[in-house]
Amino acid sequence: HVSGSSAYAEVSTRKKTFAEVQTERLDQAERTVLIKCPSKLNEKKLLQYLSSHGDVKSHFFFENRGINALIEFSEKGSIASLQDAVGIPSASEHHVVPFKSRLFTFTLKNPVSQRGEEAPLHLSPQCHIPVKDLIEKLCLADSISSQMYILLDEHQLTEENIRLRFLACSLVRDFTCAYFPDSTVKPFGSSVNTFGKLGSDVDMFLDFGDTEKHATKMKKGPFEMEYQMKRLPSERLATQRILSVIGDCLDNFGPGCVNVQKILNARCPLVKFSHQPTGFQCDLSVSNSIAIRSSELLYIYGCLDSRVRALVFTIRCWARVHGLTNSAPGTWITNFSLTMMVMFFLQRRSPPIIPTLDQLKGLADEKDKHIIGGYDCSFVSDLRKIKPTKNTETLDVLLSEFFEYFGNFDFRKNSINLRKGKEVNKPESSPLYIWNPFEQDLNISKNVNQPQLEKFIAMARESAWILQKEDKTQQMIDKEPWGLAALLIPFGKSNSSKMKNRMKGIGSETIRSLLDSLKLNNANSQQKAVGK
Ligand code: GTP
Ligand code: MG
Repeated sequence: HVSGSSAYAEVSTRKKTFAEVQTERLDQAERTVLIKCPSKLNEKKLLQYLSSHGDVKSHFFFENRGINALIEFSEKGSIASLQDAVGIPSASEHHVVPFKSRLFTFTLKNPVSQRGEEAPLHLSPQCHIPVKDLIEKLCLADSISSQMYILLDEHQLTEENIRLRFLACSLVRDFTCAYFPDSTVKPFGSSVNTFGKLGSDVDMFLDFGDTEKHATKMKKGPFEMEYQMKRLPSERLATQRILSVIGDCLDNFGPGCVNVQKILNARCPLVKFSHQPTGFQCDLSVSNSIAIRSSELLYIYGCLDSRVRALVFTIRCWARVHGLTNSAPGTWITNFSLTMMVMFFLQRRSPPIIPTLDQLKGLADEKDKHIIGGYDCSFVSDLRKIKPTKNTETLDVLLSEFFEYFGNFDFRKNSINLRKGKEVNKPESSPLYIWNPFEQDLNISKNVNQPQLEKFIAMARESAWILQKEDKTQQMIDKEPWGLAALLIPFGKSNSSKMKNRMKGIGSETIRSLLDSLKLNNANSQQKAVGK
């Protein structure tokens, strides 16, 4: 069996590089199959049957339109042996497309006689608990910091969910390899950057391997040989054509690939589809080096200090509850921008909790060199080279300081620059300006409009206010949600109008001193409570 929670615990203690994790996971996914099972299943018998094809290294069960088993073999060859032995569905009602995938259905020939003595299967959860239940759990914690770790634990990807995500990519690869045998399909974004939440989409890209390697191959020897290849007027057109064909394949032949949408005219052309066997919403695009660097950068930040992920998950959940983020695209802040804002805040602490991108670049060695489209996107990949922070602030402090920091940030004048770790003058007038860390002069939050930014600021101020004024002991006695739990309840209409009145005409300095005085009061009353 695979261990239950804390998917990144192993990664962070062993400090694997991003590339190492990717390679291991992709290799594991290639040795994996998915089997739809009957609801009453004898686990032992299934494993016994499978082991006639090879050693089963690990497995787990999960619920998704019935019971499913993910099976990891030790050897890739076992899958061929299994595929050789399984049947093709009879074509009585439907015609089947004879594409042989790694998705199978297991049935019992004589269900009645085999029933009865089976031990109940352990089903690994693939989604997180509803916010309502989370709030109840949070109320039982003993500090805001432990509340934040509880939220992290409930929301983060599990080991099992990560395996499923890589399997989804690997199943898509089975199609792309039919055309491009060297191609791989890799996840990026929150599936791999340590900030993924159960239920989030799988962003994957099609990679055609190392073009640099081929370039150097050509330079050797007295001759030159190159492939004859189809030439198109632009890279974009090539991308669109490839995605169009792969999209058609998934739509026509992919078991359980439904709602395939080709969005080829977008800035970044992609194919969207639902993958029913794994239950994921997937976005497939063609290799985008900058997005991969962003994923690796966030991976590094997420591995450096346990407070980083706890704060990001908390802020993301908070933003979602208050309607600051939305799964549909629009003028609201994206999770990606929000994560960058948290990183920036952590760079601004004294002493900083995470290094700036320029500092990470300073630690890079020869093999970390990445020049993409003329921009230097190099930074260190070996986590051991980064000195741990001396900052010991608790998450209680960091959460409330986050709200205060952005509640009072001069968005009109300043922009957020993670490369320098400094506020710098806005180069243009977008309401929220967050520098793309790898492409000069691009704003990753260009989509955010003034009302959305103002809503964010108002919510941040309200949250800072709630945290400062609250009397935890009393709230616990009154069985009222306190700390983080209080922040995850929508601030009712009455609340927000109160807030508007409070904020009307007060400058940020006034608010700051008001908050400071409240902090003192609160500290006094807590001391009193403890003294009793
Ligand atoms: P969730 O899916 O919300 O959990 O987070 P995510 O980080 O995966 O975001 P999303 O699926 O929207 O995007 C996937 C990846 O695309 C991100 O991690 C970024 O690397 C990249 N990306 C998304 N939005 C932008 C953007 O506005 N600018 C740039 N440069 N990259 C982006
Ligand atoms: Mg995503």
